[in-house]
Amino acid sequence: MMEPSKHHQRHQNKTKKKWFLPLILSLLISTFLILLSVIVSSNSPSQRWHHHHRAPVPKEVVPRFVESKLKISPTSTHLVPRIAYLISGSMGDGESLKRTLKALYHPLNHYAVHLDLEASSKERLDLANFVRNEPLFEKFGNVRTVVKANLVTYRGPTMVTNTLHAAAILLNEAQDWDWFINLSASDYPLVTQDDLLHTLSSIPRHLNFIEHTSDIGWKEYHRAKPVIIDPGLYSVNKSNVFWVSEKRNVPTAYKLFTGSAWMMLSRPFIEYCIWGWDNLPRIVLMYYANFLSSPEGYFHTVICNADEFRNTTVNHDLHFISWDNPPKQHPHFLTVDDYQKMVDSNAPFARKFGRNEPVLDKIDTELLGQNAVGYVPGRWFSQANSSITNKYSGIRNITDLRPGPGAERLGRLINGLLSAENFHANQCS
Ligand SMILES: *[C@@H]1O[C@H](CO)[C@@H](O)[C@H](O)[C@H]1NC(C)=O
Ligand SMILES: *[C@@H]1O[C@H](CO)[C@@H](O)[C@H](O)[C@H]1NC(C)=O
Ligand SMILES: *[C@@H]1O[C@H](CO)[C@@H](O)[C@H](O)[C@H]1NC(C)=O
Ligand SMILES: *[C@@H]1O[C@H](CO)[C@@H](O)[C@H](O)[C@H]1NC(C)=O
Ligand SMILES: *[C@@H]1O[C@H](CO)[C@@H](O)[C@H](O)[C@H]1NC(C)=O
Repeated sequence: MMEPSKHHQRHQNKTKKKWFLPLILSLLISTFLILLSVIVSSNSPSQRWHHHHRAPVPKEVVPRFVESKLKISPTSTHLVPRIAYLISGSMGDGESLKRTLKALYHPLNHYAVHLDLEASSKERLDLANFVRNEPLFEKFGNVRTVVKANLVTYRGPTMVTNTLHAAAILLNEAQDWDWFINLSASDYPLVTQDDLLHTLSSIPRHLNFIEHTSDIGWKEYHRAKPVIIDPGLYSVNKSNVFWVSEKRNVPTAYKLFTGSAWMMLSRPFIEYCIWGWDNLPRIVLMYYANFLSSPEGYFHTVICNADEFRNTTVNHDLHFISWDNPPKQHPHFLTVDDYQKMVDSNAPFARKFGRNEPVLDKIDTELLGQNAVGYVPGRWFSQANSSITNKYSGIRNITDLRPGPGAERLGRLINGLLSAENFHANQCS
């Protein structure tokens, strides 16, 4: 260190006088205040002493909200897994949403339903009343309406925030589920929940079904470089995303992945995304705030850049979707002509269906065996009691499953995926 010059010392002496008195004064005052607070707050000094020096750190408390990269939540040990569904829709989707919800209903699962802010408040109220008044939902308490509806912009990041919002609600209100599935009102199941839960009960619960690739191709120029703004992030009224004239570079801090917007994610991975004990999910979320069609990339990029999770990916979206070849922006609406292809795909879900599309009735009768009020009977209640919505007498043991032909189809798909020779080569490549 340098010696202070004479001039400097003299200056210091002078200033010393200026601050010396206030310093002493404030020291005295604070000492007095500390003493006062100690005297006032202590009724029994011995207890305080004990508390200060021996307060044990409770062993059970696992710090979930602080950074602890090594701690991935364990998967559940229930015999039968449970699924947390988000079913969302927009203006005019109320009826198809109810239909999809009933077709997917099983007492073991959890459901969040959401109609976005574009739907009228009457329509949203109608859905909320339906959920509240349906005797089965009331009995099992496993269907929730997202009351604080979100503004969701088509192709904007508000689609991802809406999905994360529902996942957070489902995590907060029901922790006993194993997978999260995000559907829309224009999706429909091709297997019963008994089929699905039965097939899933024999596979590891840390697996994430997400179709993905790092070969982003044309998307590098058309998606990764342009910068978009989603007015849904700050405006009360709905309007389209718009483009900023500046372009940006492709990220170098992590690798971009892209794929299908439909997926089935494990609870440990959802916790990682929502609770954020690593910064990656947050950083990537903010990056995707300016990315067109972020649902086709956000979860893919997070999962493939997290070492703890990349080996849990299964490269499939569990959906039958009919695209043009090569794919254009929108998938085809499915009709009766696609029925056989849907069944042969062995996929548990298909999209997208128009409202009251006749092929849905065919699926109801031929694949799901739906009853008169729209529920799919399983082992938990029988078809004979279609008045189940009025009486609970027909409900049996809800963890008992009755797998049918759908379980065989789905089993073929999943076994094929998990035993494929290129299974590991297909993970995050
Ligand atoms: C939003 O839309 C409503 C109804 O269309 C309109 O009355 C209101 O003025 C709009 N608000 C803004 C800030 O544009
Ligand atoms: C979730 O569901 C919506 C349908 O409401 C869909 O548009 C979106 O792309 C889905 N995927 C993700 C990752 O949010
Ligand atoms: C993931 O799998 C690869 C190859 O199979 C292996 O080298 C790597 O150690 C695995 N990573 C983790 C975190 O298990
Ligand atoms: C249907 O419900 C009635 C009572 O409402 C019950 O007696 C009957 O056993 C049920 N049938 C089946 C097949 O569970
Ligand atoms: C319900 O079914 C499961 C699976 O078949 C069985 O393990 C369980 O003991 C049954 N519970 C009751 C109360 O019968």
